[in-house]
Amino acid sequence: MIIVSHRGPVSFTREPDGTFSSRRGAGGVVSALSPLIEGRDDIVWIAAAIGDDDRAAVAADAAGVAGFALHLVVPDSTDHRLHYDVVSNATLWFLFHGLFDLPRRPRFDQHFRSSWTAYRTVNQVFADAICSTAGEGDVVLVQDLQFALVPAMVRAARPDLRLAHFTHTPFCPADDIRILPDDVAKELLTSMASAPAGFHTERWAANYRACVEEILGVTPPTFVSTFGPNPAALAATAASPQALEAGARLDAEIGDRHLVFRTDRIELSKNIARGFLAFDRLLDLHPQWRERVVFAAFVYPSREGLAEYLAYRQEIEQTAQRVNERWATDDWKPVWLDTHDDFARSVAGLQRADVLLVNPLRDGLNLVAKEGPLLSTRDVVVCLSRGAGAFDELGPFVVEVHPYDIEQTADALHRALTMDPGERASRAADLRRLAGARPASEWLDEQVAQAASAT
Ligand code: F6P
Repeated sequence: MIIVSHRGPVSFTREPDGTFSSRRGAGGVVSALSPLIEGRDDIVWIAAAIGDDDRAAVAADAAGVAGFALHLVVPDSTDHRLHYDVVSNATLWFLFHGLFDLPRRPRFDQHFRSSWTAYRTVNQVFADAICSTAGEGDVVLVQDLQFALVPAMVRAARPDLRLAHFTHTPFCPADDIRILPDDVAKELLTSMASAPAGFHTERWAANYRACVEEILGVTPPTFVSTFGPNPAALAATAASPQALEAGARLDAEIGDRHLVFRTDRIELSKNIARGFLAFDRLLDLHPQWRERVVFAAFVYPSREGLAEYLAYRQEIEQTAQRVNERWATDDWKPVWLDTHDDFARSVAGLQRADVLLVNPLRDGLNLVAKEGPLLSTRDVVVCLSRGAGAFDELGPFVVEVHPYDIEQTADALHRALTMDPGERASRAADLRRLAGARPASEWLDEQVAQAASAT
């Protein structure tokens, strides 16, 4: 079996002495896949060498990862930049998450056209890697929007392979697919429709079917399957010296105050700035929380090749600073914003949180919404945006957040902070049960079944 995802289990950093260190790859796909694939020598994981240091590690033959049959593909770096930054991140990601500032963007000019050609080229490089690795009749599971053209390419070259494509993001409504140039929408959807297409919730699957019906006039095969975090992997991280140390530091910093917590990639769709504005409004409306609650946001850099992401990082930092300037006292800093990528510390935060804020504009699933309840030592109350795919599963037991409404979000935080212990415990128990109800192994099996049943 072959799994293809753009991001692999780790990313590499070249150290001053010329050796390479590795750290866990970002995002939910890697969190779900790594524990499933580790130790399985019957699964080849094909992923991309993403940064310069990844490429250098491949060149130095230092890109092996213990426990994985990992094949890191190194596309031409200019093609790859256009594939990743311009098409995957600045176009398809924005389209599927509804992030375009439409009076200004997108602009489908010559630069986009060259980028679309590069996207096609990089997809072909991966399709070739799949075809040269796969045995007769192998199952191939292609993940995400970085590889939407791979299904058609593999089908054309190797009709014997059994293929499924899984999208971890949302999918846009039918009206929005018309934003893409007509030929691009057609090429994208024709490829995706050539294999069963999986999504985390029926909401995104229905949007996708409506897009294909709109553009191609056919109803494509779809399936819905989702996963939760791997409890054993989470427990192992929680027991690590790094998480224990981070937990001790959190305890020392927070003391007996309440902790509102979030952890995310620094990502426009995660809606981090509005979270701080809602917290500011909470302090405004409910003086009892002044000096009594800390909002810790452990968020980490992402996609810094895009100006929008760099600007968003600054906006987040400035917003947090303004809240602190407004409310801080000698011994209380209301917002604790930290932008270092440290998964163990995020796990410690999730254990200690009283309230977990997950307020994305739109999100394919959002694994943090499930990690929180599984790790919590304090019956965490989850304030969850209705825009997250996970809301479809967890909705009855979370406090709903309207992601654009700051007043409503402030109310949701207040409700969560004042919830009585009995209700907290009962909701937390339901959330724990639901968060653990869908092991990623079943999600993987479902993809295999879908791939195998495709003609
Ligand atoms: O979950 C969707 C996804 O695009 C994954 O494919 C990806 O690994 C993750 O988001 C994080 O994004 P990136 O790899 O661009 O940092």
